[in-house]
Amino acid sequence: MPTPSLPSEAFTRLATRLSDQLDAVGGAVDPTFVRPDWAERNSGLERALRPTPPRDYLRHPSVAHQMFVGEKYLAHELPWVLERLTDHDLLNEPDAGDPPRTALPEHGVVTSSNTVHHLHHLLRYERLRPLAEAEVIVEWGAGYGNLMRLLDRLHPGAPTCVLIDTPVFSALQWLHLSLVLGEERVVLHTEPGAPVVAGRLNVVPLGLVRDLEVTADLFVSTWALNESTPAAQEHVLGRAFFGAEDLLLAMNDSDPLVPAVLAAGARAEALGDFMPGQHYYLR
Ligand SMILES: C[S@@+](CC[C@H](N)C(=O)[O-])C[C@H]1O[C@@H](n2cnc3c(N)ncnc32)[C@H](O)[C@@H]1O
Repeated sequence: MPTPSLPSEAFTRLATRLSDQLDAVGGAVDPTFVRPDWAERNSGLERALRPTPPRDYLRHPSVAHQMFVGEKYLAHELPWVLERLTDHDLLNEPDAGDPPRTALPEHGVVTSSNTVHHLHHLLRYERLRPLAEAEVIVEWGAGYGNLMRLLDRLHPGAPTCVLIDTPVFSALQWLHLSLVLGEERVVLHTEPGAPVVAGRLNVVPLGLVRDLEVTADLFVSTWALNESTPAAQEHVLGRAFFGAEDLLLAMNDSDPLVPAVLAAGARAEALGDFMPGQHYYLR
């Protein structure tokens, strides 16, 4: 069944608190970790989110142009995903933030190119190892939180999820995940050394990462660690991917980060001919 519309009072209640959440995390940034192009996208997005976000907050160019891969990939990824997905309800993309969606009446769902793309990542990873084996998952650069939303649903247990991003995106993730999963599932970290809460989605702004105590089983970063500065990459490599044995990374095979990832024992797997040069790096 298509995902029902979210009650507008939930949006109003959370949206009126977003400016306070932006204030709470605003100082928690490490500028040495952020590339100028992302700093610029963050400023534009923050201006649009204050004093209250528009209902179509996922249509802002800093989100839509960076994260919705577009329908041309759907044709390649959807059949592969459909073959392997036992619960087609997972294809539903909630309407919170008014993402560009595609109805698939034959499957009774309303999905998006991004949800199909994210399911593709997770199911490709599952060919190597079941997600069930990971109890603590750290994602670097989590967009609007969609991959972790899906991972949380695909996982048979109650995984502890940590989403690391720039403060504006952390605030956006708090809004979006609170709308689609319920605020009680989401913990927005605002103080250095705040504990990671088990079984929840912990949203951690970048400036708190040096004080973040977490040992991951699985580290995920799709087109994000490679879009962070060399200082940020060195931090993550220096912490051995937060202690994670298992990796799910994605980037172009010409990216300067690739040699370090291969040296760490990850194996390259091409996404497919439909995305030339783009690879998963799995360990
Ligand atoms: C191209 S988007 C990819 C989002 C998501 N991983 C996906 O595949 O849909 C890049 C993500 O990295 C985040 N990002 C940019 N610079 C970052 C940094 N220095 N540290 C952590 N995240 C960062 C962006 O805010 C965004 O969420």
